[in-house]
Order: sequence, then structure tokens, then C-alpha cells
Amino acid sequence: MYRSRIMGIGMSVPKRVVTNHELATKMETSHDWIVERTGIEERHWVSEGETGATLGAAAAREAIQRAGLEPKDIDLIVLATLSPDFNFPGTGVFVQRELGLKEIPCLDIRQQCTGFIYGLSIADNFIRTGQYKHVLVIGAEVHSTGLDISTAGRDVAVLFGDGSGAVVVGRATDDQHVILSTHLHADGSEAEILWTEYPASARHPRISAEAMAERKHFPTMNGKKVFKHAVTRMPQAIMEAMQTNGVKSIAEIDMLIPHQANLRINQMVAQMIGLAPEKTHNNIQKYGNTTAASIPICMHEAIALGKIQPGNLVCLVAFGAGLTWGSVMLRY
Ligand SMILES: CC(C)(COP(=O)(O)OP(=O)(O)OC[C@H]1O[C@@H](n2cnc3c(N)ncnc32)[C@H](O)[C@@H]1OP(=O)(O)O)[C@@H](O)C(=O)NCCC(=O)NCCS
Repeated sequence: MYRSRIMGIGMSVPKRVVTNHELATKMETSHDWIVERTGIEERHWVSEGETGATLGAAAAREAIQRAGLEPKDIDLIVLATLSPDFNFPGTGVFVQRELGLKEIPCLDIRQQCTGFIYGLSIADNFIRTGQYKHVLVIGAEVHSTGLDISTAGRDVAVLFGDGSGAVVVGRATDDQHVILSTHLHADGSEAEILWTEYPASARHPRISAEAMAERKHFPTMNGKKVFKHAVTRMPQAIMEAMQTNGVKSIAEIDMLIPHQANLRINQMVAQMIGLAPEKTHNNIQKYGNTTAASIPICMHEAIALGKIQPGNLVCLVAFGAGLTWGSVMLRY
């Protein structure tokens, strides 16, 4: 049985920066309200020509180059998104095309904010069995074209940003650079507390003028319930990863990279598990919540800042719509 490791990481965000002040010109909100409740100061939103596929391909190119590989070395693309460029086919084949690749499999997955964790787990298992040598895992999201950018949608619209992060997962050659374990969970009993109802094949017709008039094609969220879910499930997933790997004290973890949904959530989680502030990194301030892309974007920055060093014990943790949650423990 082989083990896997992260060989290279990349990220890409749209050029356009949208500040809280700009949003306040489009809806009744304020910079102070957004910063106080979420920590977010600005986010990147796409312009014409930028898509999940272009962002995903740019992040992938950097990850492949940093892995010391070429696109032709990739055996499988796993692309996580809740915002595919089109209804079908999935965004994976468009990234494959942008990278100039042919005939390798493309697996599109969802799992929303936990999508990158699920993707890493899939890659890890394909490497472990020996079926593939190099798996590209991409989180790519374009939220901005689907948000209700008005006062009616302000509770959701201010939270989300566009962007992509990617890693190449390959075979580990020692025990200092290795994915140690992955932990995945889901509970559909409250699936509707964060969802977009229309268009939907469960509805007849899939979309109607009435549904649109009721703004049901925009995402809706019970923010308080999601918050509670997050601060319960993330500590559980971290503890599960620690127990599996015999990590007895939180102090043994060198860096926690949490999904970037809300700075307050992440501060509360760190406090609950007794993690020193310097042992976690957040960059939601600049990017907002980029769902499946948030963990690789945050990890990319932590590495650039020298906060993650080779051989460090790193825990990745996420929660999201579905509801879904999970963690990954690795040595970088
Ligand atoms: C969304 C969130 C920041 C809202 O914070 P909150 O303290 O729960 O705020 P509330 O929902 O109670 O809203 C308080 C008031 O602010 C208003 N409000 C909502 N969004 C606003 C905005 N962008 N600007 C100004 N006011 C806003 C509400 O309408 C409400 O007004 P009311 O009291 O007159 O009804 C918070 O619930 C949250 O972060 N939840 C988790 C969301 C999340 O992580 N989602 C992604 C999951 S992956």
C-alpha cells in the first residue's frame, strides 16, 4: 500500500476586488457590520471571461509547476465546486481542456465548503491503491454571478468570494511528507438550512417566473443554525484526526487551516480546542468565503508566509452545506 503527500499547491483569484464599501452602495449594509460579524473586508469577484475553469486551470498550473511536474504527468482531476460553470458537464473537463490534457478522467464532486477535504480524501485513496500516481485536486468557485446583490440577499451576498485553489497529490516517499488520515461526514437532516432551491429537476418546471419573483434561485441560509453547526462539528473533526493519529495534545499541531466561512467561527473553534492564535491562519479578510477553494487558498498563503514548514503537522478542517464536515491530518 502506498501513502500520499501534497507535492505542490496553487491558487488563483479574479482581478477585481470588491470592498465592503462597494457593497454598501448596492444594498443596505456597512463595512463595520460585515467586519464585526464575519471579519471580511473585501473579496474578489469575476469579470467577463473569468470562469471556474479559467481560475481552476491557473491554480492547477501553479500547483503542477511547484510539484516539479508537467500537466501531462497528471492521471486524474478531482474538481470540487458548488458553482459549476454550466449545469453539465462538470467544470473538470473544461479545466482539463485548458490544461491541454486528453483522456484522463475528470471527477466532479460537490460537498460545498467541505469539497476540498472530500477531494483530498478521494485523491489519497486513489494513490494508496496504486491506481494513480498524480491526482490534481481543485476547488473552484464563482459565487458572484449567482448572488442576490440587493438588501433582500445581503445576509448571504456579503459572505462569498470567487477563486480557486489546487494541489497535486502524489506518492509519499518518507513519513515526514505524508497525508496521515482523512475524515469525512455528512448529515442531510437539515439540508435546507443552506441551499439554493431553484432551478431544480425536483421542481416542475425547473424554474418559473413565480420562483424567480420569490427570489428562490438565490442561495438562502439560516445563519445562526449554520454557525452552531460549524462550532460543533469543526472541533469534533479536529479531535477525530488527533485521536486517529495518536496526537495527544493540541500543542503538537503546528498549523490548523480551517475553512474560511467566518473569522468569528474560526476564533471560537481555536478557543474551544485551546489552540494558540499563532498556530492557525485565516485570510477570509481578503477573500470572503470561497467554499471549496478556501482551504487551499489559505494554506497557500500560510506556506508563502513561512507559517507552514516542510515536515510540519498540519490539520485541515471544514464544514458546510449539506450538511457536511471533515478533516485531514498531514505532514507537509
Ligand atoms: C450570517 C451571519 C454573519 C449573521 O450574523 P448574525 O449575528 O447571526 O445576524 P442575524 O442573522 O441575527 O441578523 C442580525 C440583523 O442584521 C441584519 N443583516 C443581515 N445581513 C446584513 C448585512 N449584510 N448588513 C447589515 N445587516 C444585515 C439582519 O437582517 C438582522 O436584522 P433584524 O435584526 O432587523 O432582523 C452569521 O449568522 C454567520 O456567520 N453564520 C454562519 C454563516 C456561514 O458560515 N455560512 C457559510 C457556511 S459554509
